[in-house]
Amino acid sequence: MDEPYVFITRRMPEDIKARLEASCRVSMWEYEDIPVSKGRLEEEIKHADALFCNVSDNIDNEMLNKAEHLKVIATMAVGYNNIDIQTAADKGIQVAHTPDVLTETTADLTFALLMASARRIAEGIDVIRNNEWGAWAPFFLTGRDIHHARIGIIGMGRIGEAVARRASGFNMDIVYHNRSPKPDVEESLGASYAGMDELLTTSDFVCVQTPYTKETHHLIDGNALQKMKKNAVLINTSRGAVVDETALYEALQAGEIRAAGLDVFEKEPIGADHPLLTLPNVTALPHIGSASEDTRQKMAEMTADHILEGLRGDTVSNKVV
Ligand code: DGY
Repeated sequence: MDEPYVFITRRMPEDIKARLEASCRVSMWEYEDIPVSKGRLEEEIKHADALFCNVSDNIDNEMLNKAEHLKVIATMAVGYNNIDIQTAADKGIQVAHTPDVLTETTADLTFALLMASARRIAEGIDVIRNNEWGAWAPFFLTGRDIHHARIGIIGMGRIGEAVARRASGFNMDIVYHNRSPKPDVEESLGASYAGMDELLTTSDFVCVQTPYTKETHHLIDGNALQKMKKNAVLINTSRGAVVDETALYEALQAGEIRAAGLDVFEKEPIGADHPLLTLPNVTALPHIGSASEDTRQKMAEMTADHILEGLRGDTVSNKVV
């Protein structure tokens, strides 16, 4: 019997490719930093038995309808909003993602962004690099305190919980909003469940950790931003489109909220001319939530293993559909 054919949409380390090559024919997009072209993906998906993809590949209905033999799609990410999972399910294609392995790493980055935004770290670095550091000044680059402040976490999933654990170490007052309350988290971390309005109006830091779905599209819109405290900081490390960027720009400019720390954007990559980057109170990162060496390696290994499971005819271990 012919070996199954796997297409990898981004250049991966040799050991990851080799893991698959032991039992599959494999081809791989040759660049690590350029997404696969739509044309190449359309061509490959026609023949592939399995697809190893990532957050920047748009695997929509039109793309999936080109697939003739596809049995498994494994994405090297926890979020899978870029994949039409309904069409995949209808076509009997298993979809797998990489939860858990990136939880702590993403929570670390979320907290780093929270701290950087509160304490104006990026502005401080710029001051030094631009040779603008004058004498010590009593109120120079004063930020806002993190300890004992209230953090409002929207989406108490795995990453939300890991952020809450970090917040608890900073003696923060933790409130959260979720589809349903989580008594275990309330007990272990002293967090309290809050309605959206209460969370928005009372939190010093609003942390978006919810997956991107039709329901969470622009969950943080102009109306939500207006409800936030003037001194509040918004942090988003989930998906860009959970926040209405135009409304966020206006709110930051008008001083309706204090600052924002963003690792994700509605359309990625953003260019240096993005309006949000004109604001000193925006700390922006290029979607690096899970980007530690160990975590990305583990995510890649897990993704390859999902493909092997699916091709053996097993149920993939982190099955979305
Ligand atoms: C994810 O896993 O969904 C991240 O956004 C990419 O690492």
